[in-house]
Amino acid sequence: MATAIPIVPIHELAGHVGQSVTVRGWLYNRRSSKKLHFLEVRDGFGIVQCVVAEAEAGDELFARAGTLTQEDTLGVTGTVRAHPRRAGELELAVTGIEVLARTVAPYPISPKEHGTEFLMDHRHLWLRSRRQHAALRVRHTVVRAIRDFFDERDFTLIDAPIFTPSACEGTSTLFQTDFHGQPAYLSQSGQLYMEAAAAAFGKVYCFGPTFRAEKSKTRRHLAEFWMVEPEVAFADLDGAMDLAEDMLCSIVTRVLGERRSELATLERDIGRLDAVVKPFPRIGYDEAIRRLAEAREARRDPAAAPAPQWGQDLGAEDETVLSEGFDRPVMVHRYPAAVKAFYMKRDPLDPRLALGVDVLAPEGYGEIVGGGQREDDLGRLLESLREHGLPQQAFEWYLDLRRYGTFPHAGFGLGLERTVAWLCGLGHLRETVPFPRMLTRLGP
Ligand code: 4AD
Ligand code: MG
Repeated sequence: MATAIPIVPIHELAGHVGQSVTVRGWLYNRRSSKKLHFLEVRDGFGIVQCVVAEAEAGDELFARAGTLTQEDTLGVTGTVRAHPRRAGELELAVTGIEVLARTVAPYPISPKEHGTEFLMDHRHLWLRSRRQHAALRVRHTVVRAIRDFFDERDFTLIDAPIFTPSACEGTSTLFQTDFHGQPAYLSQSGQLYMEAAAAAFGKVYCFGPTFRAEKSKTRRHLAEFWMVEPEVAFADLDGAMDLAEDMLCSIVTRVLGERRSELATLERDIGRLDAVVKPFPRIGYDEAIRRLAEAREARRDPAAAPAPQWGQDLGAEDETVLSEGFDRPVMVHRYPAAVKAFYMKRDPLDPRLALGVDVLAPEGYGEIVGGGQREDDLGRLLESLREHGLPQQAFEWYLDLRRYGTFPHAGFGLGLERTVAWLCGLGHLRETVPFPRMLTRLGP
C-alpha cells in the first residue's frame, strides 16, 4: 500500500529533503519559459519555488501549469530539493498539481507598482504580499515579547474598558459615542484604570486598542492604535524609565532573534537595531531645548522652522532632530507641566516641571513611549483638574485613589505601531497594523 503524501507547511520543508510532499497554498507568481514553469507558491508560512519541467512533468501537467494565474488556490506535489543557486533555500520538483480554485478575474495587485491609496483600498488582499506579511509577523513577535516581558516580572494583566465616561489625554482628541443615551468616549488610554489596579495588584499592565480623534494626517498618527500600559505601585520617574528601557531592549533582542528573515525582506539595516542596548541616554527638557537651539544654529538655514522656546512642547520635527544625536532611543524627561497631561506629578525640585518622560526612537521615528510619575496628592490633583478645565465630577472615582491609601506610582504607555514602524524601518504607521483606521480611512 502506498503511504499518503504529507501536506507540509513551507517552513517545515527542511525536514523533508528528498521526499515527496504536498504544499497547499496560493500562486504568488509564475515565470515560464519554453520547457520550464517556475511557480512561486505561498502558504502563509513562507514562499517556495516549485519547478515544473516539461521533460519530467509530462505534456498534460506542463500545459496546465502554464494556465495558472496569480492567487489560484493549489495543492502542489513534488520532491523537496536544494535550490540550485540560493544557498540554504529549498525548492519543489513538481510531479502533480491539484487546482483547488481558480481566481475569477485577474488579481488586482500585480507585481507592477501601485499607488498607496490603491493598495490601502485593497488592504484585505495586500496583506498577502511579501513585505506586508513580514511587517505583521514582526508585529506579532513584538506583542509576544511585550507580554512575556511583563508576565515574567510578576505583572498582572488587567484589561481596561473601551467605553469611558471621561478624557485621559485631553478633550481635543476624544471620539464621542452614544452609550444608551449617555455620552461616552472611546478610550484614549487605560492609564487611569491601571492606577486603580496598581493599588489592588501592585504591578499591572493593560494591552489593547486606544482611540484618538486627532485631525492630523501624519505618517505617525492613527485613529485606532494599540498601546501597552504598565503601572507600578511605589515606583518613581526613574523606575518608569528603567522599566521602559528594559522593555525596549527585550523587544529588540526578541525581534533580532526571531525575525531576521522578515527584517531582511523589509531591507532593514540590522546594525541600527544591534546598537539598541542599555543604557539609553536620559536628558532633561532643558537640555533638549538647548540641543535644538544648537542644531538650528548649525543648520544656518533661514527658511528652517525656529527651534522651540522654553515652555513649548516639542514637535515631530524637533523629535527627529533630537534623535539624530543618538544611536539608541533617547529619554527626554521633566517637561514643563503646562504642556503635559493633568495627572503628572510636579517635580518637587522645580514645580514648573512635570515628572514625565517621552522616549524618542532613533532615526526620526518619533515618540514611542510617554509616561512618568503620577500626582498622588489629592489637593494638587484637584488643582490640576481645574487648571486643565476638566470636570471634577467625572473624576471622582479617580480622586478616590488619592483619598484612600494614596501612594507614589508611575507607569507609561508604549505605542505598538510606532514601535513596529521603527523596528521594521517603515515610513508610515499604516503598514504596521492589519486594517488601519486613519483620519481619511475607515475601510476595508
Ligand atoms: O503619550 P501618550 O498620549 O500617553 C498616554 O496615553 C499615557 N496615558 C500613557 C501612560 O502613561 N499609561 O501615548 C502613549 C504612546 C505614544 O508615545 C505613542 O507611541 C502612542 O502612544 N500614540 C500613538 N500611536 C499612533 N497613533 C496615535 N495617534 C498615537 N498617539 C499616541
Ligand atoms: Mg505623549
